[in-house]
Amino acid sequence: MSNTVIIGAQWGDEGKGKIVDLLSADSDVIVRFQGGNNAGHTIKVKGEQTILHLIPSGILHDSKVCLIGNGVVCDPVVFLEEVDRLAAQGVNVSPERLKISKKTHLILPYHKALDAAREARRAGKKIGTTGRGIGPCYEDKAARVGVRAADLANPALLREKIAHALLEKNALFTLYGQPVMDADQIYDELMALAPRIVPHLADASSVVGDAWAAGRSVLFEGAQGTHLDIDHGTYPFVTSSNTVAGNAAAGCGVSPRALDRIVGIVKAYTTRVGAGPFPTEQLDDTGAYLRAKGHEFGATTGRPRRCGWLDIPVLRESVRLNGLTDIALTKLDVLQNLPAIEVCVAYDYKGERISFPPQEEGGLGEVTPIYEKLDGFIEDISGCTCWDELPPTVQAYIRRIEELCGVPVSIISVGPDREQTIVR
Ligand code: GDP
Ligand code: IMO
Ligand code: MG
Repeated sequence: MSNTVIIGAQWGDEGKGKIVDLLSADSDVIVRFQGGNNAGHTIKVKGEQTILHLIPSGILHDSKVCLIGNGVVCDPVVFLEEVDRLAAQGVNVSPERLKISKKTHLILPYHKALDAAREARRAGKKIGTTGRGIGPCYEDKAARVGVRAADLANPALLREKIAHALLEKNALFTLYGQPVMDADQIYDELMALAPRIVPHLADASSVVGDAWAAGRSVLFEGAQGTHLDIDHGTYPFVTSSNTVAGNAAAGCGVSPRALDRIVGIVKAYTTRVGAGPFPTEQLDDTGAYLRAKGHEFGATTGRPRRCGWLDIPVLRESVRLNGLTDIALTKLDVLQNLPAIEVCVAYDYKGERISFPPQEEGGLGEVTPIYEKLDGFIEDISGCTCWDELPPTVQAYIRRIEELCGVPVSIISVGPDREQTIVR
């Protein structure tokens, strides 16, 4: 059995949830390794939709073990809300199959308040964060003042850490004209949740490592997308974690040798939520068409997603950064009825033709896309079940993407449902 990493190859919302759910059938353990409830991963099974923000998208497969790795930032309130929602649907969310690493950092109320206060002050320069406290929680981790999941089982340490963190946070709230927070109140609220969370705590590194050693297969579920990576994305318009495949190992505590297959999830066009450069964005009818037909509204915040054509230089960089072995191409059905399909194959940057994004901060905001035009298609492909059923124009588009990226397309998604998938 081999292990698989699922990575978003663009700016998020590529359809990772659907593909993780699909591949979970052949996996034993599914682990989230970064991000938090800024993610919104949608799964549709026989018409019924489930949106997961924190819990791995393998949870609907009853016999699988699902883990929240140390690289994730976990909001305990959101975790329990999600557990309750799944339980109400009849999903098994017992601690035997749903585990949180003891080392996972917790998102606390002051992280969310700080996220909001910082965004409010960035007038004209907002990142457009999801407001979930992701950045401030990772800041505390790096500053070595974070609260970790295992602290829920150590009340004295927990109390001390919250009080310590608030010394600085309350000074910031005062600076930002926001109300200060009370350590006792935060502590009491957390202690009320603790009895339901502590049973889920685990040595996640050992769970994953032991499964790997026993020849069972592990599926690593990425969140966000490669171009939202804190180092390699369109900084500063990025999230606060490494979203690239390399972090799959560190984010749950296994060797990089465990990462066999690395699947890049690529939407057949491009979307982005929040601020930041987006060279192929279409602000005209084409963008509006993609948004309406693709239901491009955020699964987490409900914000309309910015829409545009496929951007190959962005994908080429994702291939390199992640070492993609193959691509899962999603939402092809959405392109139906467009008179032509355009693909950005290179950029004009300061008078030169370039094949990869510029590496300077803001560089991607200064490129002009160079497009290639392909034939559109009018056929409804949402019921196609194999390659041969796809119209020649759609096959040509897929082949061109393979050529331009240098990576095979192994999975083709033609609709949101688990069944609407072609595996080559
Ligand atoms: P993720 O964050 O990468 O998991 O993606 P999201 O769930 O945020 O957004 C993807 C959206 O597209 C969801 O509403 C999915 O149900 C939907 N979706 C996934 N694959 C397809 C597809 O092939 N066709 C269509 N029409 N919708 C899809
Ligand atoms: P999934 O896993 C799309 C974006 C936000 C914002 C930036 C920083 O569903 O693909 P943050 O709250 O992380 O500090 O916000 O990152 N962002 C996402 N965009 N899909 C996501 O997750 C995202 N998670 C964060 O919109 O631009
Ligand atoms: Mg999403």
